[in-house]
Amino acid sequence: LLRAFLYADPAAHSLSPAMHRAAFAWAGLRGDYEARRVPPAELPAALAQLREPGVLGANLSLPHKEAALAYLDDLSAAARAIGAVNTVVNREGRLFGDNTDAPGLFDALLDLGAGRTGDREMEGPVVVLGAGGAARAAVYTALILLERDVFIVNRTRARAEELAAFWQNGDAEGQAWAADLSEIPWSKVRLIVNASSAGLSNPAETPLPGFDFAALAPGALFYDMVYKPRETRLMRDARAAGVRAENGLGMLAHQARLAFLAWTGADVPVGVFLGALEERC
Ligand code: ATR
Repeated sequence: LLRAFLYADPAAHSLSPAMHRAAFAWAGLRGDYEARRVPPAELPAALAQLREPGVLGANLSLPHKEAALAYLDDLSAAARAIGAVNTVVNREGRLFGDNTDAPGLFDALLDLGAGRTGDREMEGPVVVLGAGGAARAAVYTALILLERDVFIVNRTRARAEELAAFWQNGDAEGQAWAADLSEIPWSKVRLIVNASSAGLSNPAETPLPGFDFAALAPGALFYDMVYKPRETRLMRDARAAGVRAENGLGMLAHQARLAFLAWTGADVPVGVFLGALEERC
């Protein structure tokens, strides 16, 4: 029996078991995926258990994505740059830390036609809302995977400056800047990614106060990493202005697909993961 886990706290309402169980079934593998509540103090011991034979690895979620780095043997370039691990792979007793959130977002954006066109003018800069952990992954996606310039907008500008500074003097194709809404050349922007948690607990709050989606170029995409609720206030605002808006279910499905691929070598179609999500939300 192949085993994989989610380590999180809380872990009860995770959608990951449904997705990975569907993937095991589709791939014809005898496996199980279990969500375990792991309080922070128990993380080192829980990670050590992943070294056992028959254990594929684990997904990590709040509050472990950053804390786990210290306990792993190797890290992918993405995990290192983002400073967060969402997927641990047991490689014959050595623990490899990866981050499938950023390539998961990338693949979700490709599905939506927001990839490279070969025409830099047509691609335009990306705006990332937020400067926390989710935003670090979104900036990696935009700079390294999409090879675009990025404007980082955050309530606390200093955190946006810090995130942009991390990428200065790197070998990224594009450049990252912290910006206020008024500093962004909106008519060139074709992609906005919301990686802020504003509005999640209080719908009256927004990371884009007073912003008019009509300022965007035609054909622009607003991608909200939020998937609960399936339609956010910002998505409604975007659609009301004629801008395409999508929620984070595609990213959630793709990050799971990429984790499953890293564990098993089976490239299960993203539709299998999306189907499991559809049944549950
Ligand atoms: P995560 O790891 O999910 O990204 P986080 O590190 O706590 O979580 O980051 C939350 C992000 O949402 C931050 O960018 C935060 O802005 P600040 O850096 O100014 O705190 C943003 N955010 C949360 N609540 C917000 C609100 N009410 N208005 C604007 N931004 C908010």
